[in-house]
Amino acid sequence: MHLINSQLVCADYNKEYPKISHAKGVYYYDTTGKKYLDASGATACVTNIGHGVEEVADVISEQARKVAVHPAHLFYNEEIENYLANLCAFAGNGFNHAWTISGGTAAVENAVKLAFQYQRSKGRQRKKVLARWGSYHGNSIFNLDFGGNKIRRDYYEDLMKDHPHLSPCFPYRRPSDMSLEAYEDTLIAEFDETTKTFKDDIICFVAEPVVGAALGAVAPTENYFKRIKEICEREDILFIADEVMTGFGRTGKNFAMEHYGVVPDIMALAKGISSGYLPLGAIMAQDHVINTLKETGKPFLSGQTYSCIPLAAAVGNANLEYLKKKNLVENAANIGQFLKEKLFQLDANPFVGDIRGIGLFLSVEFVKDKSTKEPIENEFAFSKRLEAKCMENGLTIYGCKGSYQLTSGDHILISPPLVLNETEATELYEILAKSLASITEDYQNWLQN
Ligand SMILES: Cc1ncc(COP(=O)(O)O)c(C=O)c1O
Repeated sequence: MHLINSQLVCADYNKEYPKISHAKGVYYYDTTGKKYLDASGATACVTNIGHGVEEVADVISEQARKVAVHPAHLFYNEEIENYLANLCAFAGNGFNHAWTISGGTAAVENAVKLAFQYQRSKGRQRKKVLARWGSYHGNSIFNLDFGGNKIRRDYYEDLMKDHPHLSPCFPYRRPSDMSLEAYEDTLIAEFDETTKTFKDDIICFVAEPVVGAALGAVAPTENYFKRIKEICEREDILFIADEVMTGFGRTGKNFAMEHYGVVPDIMALAKGISSGYLPLGAIMAQDHVINTLKETGKPFLSGQTYSCIPLAAAVGNANLEYLKKKNLVENAANIGQFLKEKLFQLDANPFVGDIRGIGLFLSVEFVKDKSTKEPIENEFAFSKRLEAKCMENGLTIYGCKGSYQLTSGDHILISPPLVLNETEATELYEILAKSLASITEDYQNWLQN
């Protein structure tokens, strides 16, 4: 075990980390030879095609030898040409334009920039980005600002400009006496009201189709996004789907917004786009967005060093080909259902409040009291203790906070590689159940003392 002294970010000064040696399929191995099943998909939802895929390693090596990068202002490359065509075909639904960047934060920020330029191209001076509390859209100051991850954003509030935030659509935590239909109605009314308060000032609405780590695989009510999209169209507010976690088969569809019958104007992508073999993100847009820019004669005012480089395009393409060849989108739907049914057995535990999610994007929320849904005390750090116990038992999960009033509440995210099979899913469940039994006992003892 090792204390981390030289790494600037995310190092807990007092925590000892096992040193990783290598990874293959759905497993990590540390330098002592201990094996860990990757149930978080790195942090998180990254490793869609699994670890150690030879085809991808070969492509990296070949492309690095051929050409990795070139002056973007002087050349174009065939790798990006092929890749973007394949990506557009994979997305379908009129997504005829795509552009790559270095990761998720940059993808979402550039999606907003594109929406901003769309509005300026129409002669509008709109300034507000609309998003929801309990959603995470990346870690730059701007993304934290319009994003709604209170735990991550609070420290930087002095640097923020105050974009409006809506309530999340969180069925488990809706008022106890309210039907799902009535709950959806209140959220739509809130959305509508906000567009009136900020009349002609909203550039775009940004949302995770299924909220990821901030709330724990929270899917919306049935018609929520359809009804929001209608209001967006009425007000010409662009609808941006942040599919950074949910894209590339994670939820059992190519992109999660397909579950809700809504075609966004722009999508932001990352993580499963390259399964972690190289940092990569992308934005995709519909014709009407790009045509509006074209009419002004002004190209998209963006561009970063690693936009559309051949190495990234080759890796993205190899990842996409592997995903299709191995039918991983379908596998995520089937194995996700298999695993979710197993997770339902955890409902017998007195502190399991909700088991939710779609495909291989699953979560368990823990509560002190199942009937009142009162959260577990922050001091006990239930999800982090469970995460540590799982590590001890050979399983990586993502222990999170924020499912109750944004700063408390414990949940875990389960998002393994989409290559997971039934035997591995059973192993995942068994290690999780065993670890949970142990933390449950610790918590019961803690409550008594
Ligand atoms: C929904 C969502 N959007 C954006 C991001 C930011 O992506 P990145 O960490 O690659 O910058 C994340 C990262 O976890 C995310 O989950």
